[in-house]
Amino acid sequence: MKPSMACGSLLLLTWFAVLGFLQAVTLEVRERNSTCIKAELSALFSITYNTSSNSRTVQVQLPNTTTVDGTSSSCGSVTAGIPWLVATFGPGHTLGLSFSTNGSLYSVAALMLQYNLSDSSIFPEANSSAVVTVETASVGIWAAINTTYHCVSATSVVAGGQTVTFSDMRLEAYMPGNDLSSAETICAADQAHTTTLTPTTTARTPVTPTPAPTPPGTPERGTYSISNSNGTVCLLAQMGLQLNFSYVSQPQNKTVQEFFNLTPNMTSSSGSCEASRATLVLTQGRTTTLNLTFTLNSTTNKYHLSGINMLANWSDMTAPFSAGNTSLDYLRTTLGRSYMCNAEQTLAVVPSFSLNTFRVQVQSFGVTTNQFATAEECQMDQDEMLIPIIVGAALAGLVLIVLIAYLVGRKRSHAGYQTI
Ligand SMILES: *[C@@H]1O[C@H](CO)[C@@H](O)[C@H](O)[C@H]1NC(C)=O
Ligand SMILES: *[C@@H]1O[C@H](CO)[C@@H](O)[C@H](O)[C@H]1NC(C)=O
Ligand SMILES: *[C@@H]1O[C@H](CO)[C@@H](O)[C@H](O)[C@H]1NC(C)=O
Ligand SMILES: *[C@@H]1O[C@H](CO)[C@@H](O)[C@H](O)[C@H]1NC(C)=O
Ligand SMILES: *[C@@H]1O[C@H](CO)[C@@H](O)[C@H](O)[C@H]1NC(C)=O
Ligand SMILES: *[C@@H]1O[C@H](CO)[C@@H](O)[C@H](O)[C@H]1NC(C)=O
Ligand SMILES: *[C@@H]1O[C@H](CO)[C@@H](O)[C@H](O)[C@H]1NC(C)=O
Ligand SMILES: *[C@@H]1O[C@H](CO)[C@@H](O)[C@H](O)[C@H]1NC(C)=O
Ligand SMILES: *[C@@H]1O[C@H](CO)[C@@H](O)[C@H](O)[C@H]1NC(C)=O
Ligand SMILES: *[C@@H]1O[C@H](CO)[C@@H](O)[C@H](O)[C@H]1NC(C)=O
Ligand SMILES: *[C@@H]1O[C@H](CO)[C@@H](O)[C@H](O)[C@H]1NC(C)=O
Ligand SMILES: *[C@@H]1O[C@H](CO)[C@@H](O)[C@H](O)[C@H]1NC(C)=O
Repeated sequence: MKPSMACGSLLLLTWFAVLGFLQAVTLEVRERNSTCIKAELSALFSITYNTSSNSRTVQVQLPNTTTVDGTSSSCGSVTAGIPWLVATFGPGHTLGLSFSTNGSLYSVAALMLQYNLSDSSIFPEANSSAVVTVETASVGIWAAINTTYHCVSATSVVAGGQTVTFSDMRLEAYMPGNDLSSAETICAADQAHTTTLTPTTTARTPVTPTPAPTPPGTPERGTYSISNSNGTVCLLAQMGLQLNFSYVSQPQNKTVQEFFNLTPNMTSSSGSCEASRATLVLTQGRTTTLNLTFTLNSTTNKYHLSGINMLANWSDMTAPFSAGNTSLDYLRTTLGRSYMCNAEQTLAVVPSFSLNTFRVQVQSFGVTTNQFATAEECQMDQDEMLIPIIVGAALAGLVLIVLIAYLVGRKRSHAGYQTI
């Protein structure tokens, strides 16, 4: 046996998803002829990098040429080490997942993404040639032992500001046999769908948004939350969201202005919370992803929405639409409070893209007991609240004047009767 074989014989199979457009990749880690980790998944990376003049975001798919790295992957059993599934593609790009278990549940303990900025086919004009590694322990993928984790819905994981979006995922670690267990743990996002959508077939069909030339109605208000690795809710949001952006439509052969309302029951949320940075990722279908980053300034004890990033890859687009801005200052609030604004707001991101918010309440830091803290209302709401007060005061004044006039009038006519 060759030394590399001693570590494990690794197998890779690839196939194209029959329904989705994303490539599905099968990855397998084996040791002594038995499989310990197996994953069938599609993954899309959204990576922001710097050119000499600006910062750019690219979308990269985990290609079907991905291979399992035999030297870094491990079943973890021999030296009581950590099980790792490490997949590589292109010149030094790597996606790694490590696992842990407590006997009844297993989970993805960490996600590691490594990308090589010298790959100019993916990162044109990058002003660095470094190999960048980002890692996170907030992955949120777990399942009962001896079951396959199954998630058709898109699930995004944020690591160091970069996003990995998995979809159509089947995954098992600590496998009892060489094939994925037939018993499955269905992810929460799919469970939410099965209660509102007609079964799996609906969830599998890629959502193709129908372009609307005029603004659609007010978007429905969605409720989203993020939990950190110990299960505590760390970000809460309730809001209606509308994307306003322009792109070149292939069939129409021209730039079209699009208003796209996020539909909460078709949107999955994910994200991460760190000490001074929290990210909420909303994905509708497989083709529209919105990324909101909140930043806490611990000197001023204020936090705000500092970054908005959007990716849309619709069937009628000549190229996927991607736009973002990481130096924004919106929804500013004091730590320990939530931000609230019932009035519609337009958050300009870049000239071709703005985000309209409706009935927002968010809190991205200092969330306790899974509830919003006392709200700080936006100026627009405070102004609006003044109107009824002014109108009320005016009405009260009017009533008073009428009453006085009536009383005075009555007294006069009374006096008149008495003289008769
Ligand atoms: C692994 O499988 C091959 C063929 O399936 C067999 O020849 C070999 O003996 C097996 N090795 C071990 C260690 O079980
Ligand atoms: C891009 O450059 C800015 C400074 O202009 C820096 O803060 C940021 O970390 C850089 N981003 C990356 C991905 O290198
Ligand atoms: C890359 O560009 C950013 C600004 O876009 C700059 O801040 C950074 O220092 C540059 N990095 C290198 C290695 O030139
Ligand atoms: C966009 O979708 C097309 C197919 O509809 C696919 O071929 C392409 O790879 C996708 N691009 C990205 C960046 O996801
Ligand atoms: C990064 O990419 C460059 C160019 O494709 C290649 O020469 C280099 O070996 C790669 N680095 C790693 C660590 O794979
Ligand atoms: C494993 O963790 C889960 C969730 O934290 C818990 O419900 C379960 O009791 C744990 N099992 C064991 C054997 O510790
Ligand atoms: C998982 O399956 C293996 C092999 O079938 C069995 O030995 C083990 O007890 C099972 N574990 C649980 C928690 O059911
Ligand atoms: C989503 O919600 C809307 C309004 O609540 C409802 O009309 C629609 O049928 C729902 N869609 C699905 C797929 O459940
Ligand atoms: C959960 O983790 C966060 C930090 O990640 C910590 O602030 C919080 O106290 C922890 N909560 C529990 C119940 O362990
Ligand atoms: C949509 O964006 C365009 C271009 O930025 C702007 O002119 C228009 O007023 C916006 N419409 C709405 C309803 O936000
Ligand atoms: C698209 O429009 C441009 C000019 O606006 C024209 O030159 C081009 O031929 C058109 N392409 C198609 C496929 O109609
Ligand atoms: C926090 O706010 C202060 C005052 O506005 C500012 O000087 C400082 O740069 C901010 N810190 C960070 C990390 O943004």
